[in-house]
Amino acid sequence: MTKTILRALAGETQSVPPIWMMRQAGRYLPEYRATRAEAGDFLSLCYNPELAAEVTLQPIRRYGFDAAILFADILLLPQALGADLWFVTGEGPRLSTITSPEELAKLKPVEEIDEVLSPVYETVRILSRELPRETTLIGFAGAPWTVATYMIAGQGTKDQGPAHALKAENREVFEGILDRLTEGTIHYLSKQIEAGAEVVKVFDSWAGSLKGADFEKYAVEPCRKITAAIKERHPGIPVIGFPREAGEGYVGFHDKTGVDCVALDNSVSATWAAEHVQSTGCVQGNLASSHMVTGGQALVDETRAIVEAFSGGPHIFNLGHGITPDADPDNVQRMIDAVRGG
Ligand code: CP3
Repeated sequence: MTKTILRALAGETQSVPPIWMMRQAGRYLPEYRATRAEAGDFLSLCYNPELAAEVTLQPIRRYGFDAAILFADILLLPQALGADLWFVTGEGPRLSTITSPEELAKLKPVEEIDEVLSPVYETVRILSRELPRETTLIGFAGAPWTVATYMIAGQGTKDQGPAHALKAENREVFEGILDRLTEGTIHYLSKQIEAGAEVVKVFDSWAGSLKGADFEKYAVEPCRKITAAIKERHPGIPVIGFPREAGEGYVGFHDKTGVDCVALDNSVSATWAAEHVQSTGCVQGNLASSHMVTGGQALVDETRAIVEAFSGGPHIFNLGHGITPDADPDNVQRMIDAVRGG
């Protein structure tokens, strides 16, 4: 096996960890901004296979990352299920809300999502032809809880209040949304794999607001179901889980869900995670993305400290969350050089 990311996911400890970056195709890159302008807007870019493949390839050409992540968004699935979706510049996503049994009943059946999502599969096909042979292609979806928080509130929220409220007030509708998303995610990821994705990642960006039994039921259990279904349909395809800000919930996450790799945010220290999370499997992470803005010696020192902390087991270097638009592209190169020993 020549691909370094696949070797890490198979449990191999490597002296230089493979590296990629969440949101590596994004607004901090001038070439991304130019292609997005050509597409018109963000969603048009997501649904234009040629241009979506182009922006996916841009950070690979510029930096030679070990993995490319499909350019798309976790909110395309709710859109394919029938929610209205649009993006307000400078603010973020807006969706039509789902909080009642009637609205839940209006969601489309999972068999129909490909009518909207087929351009995404075409992007994957283009990428699997065009990527360098050493680069791993990662497909992805949002975790049911995280996607549901946007569908219930109609937008991003600080504390996911509306989703927690629906969970308390109408558990049947809440669980109905999660079940439909779980089923839709399995289908969506399977299609990405059939089109050429070699790894899939499940982003549970708001997992940290689920506590105790709720974390087990609505973060662990959907991820376990998705992972089991993917492994049954596509044996050998690795799954990365990202229960962001799970804290102690990261402990045991490999074994409870069956994921091959647990992605870590930067609220946990690498030394703690090496002992308590990497002990059960591959980890990914976890440099604070603010270093991509501030740079300097602190960036180099912290990058080296993370590489060192995880040097005893399988590790994929990454940020703890997506790179932000105000990042300096030169700092990305400094991070890569520090990882690869420059
Ligand atoms: O990582 C990558 O490069 C792959 C593409 C990708 C995007 N979004 C592109 C994107 C991935 C994997 C995502 C995941 C995603 N989308 C998540 C989970 C990860 C996380 O960041 O926590 C979430 C919560 C979303 C929903 C979403 N999409 C929000 C809240 C926003 C607005 C906030 C923002 O950063 O502007 C988006 C827009 C978005 N998705 C952009 C990109 C490159 C910026 C849009 C633009 O170009 O204007």
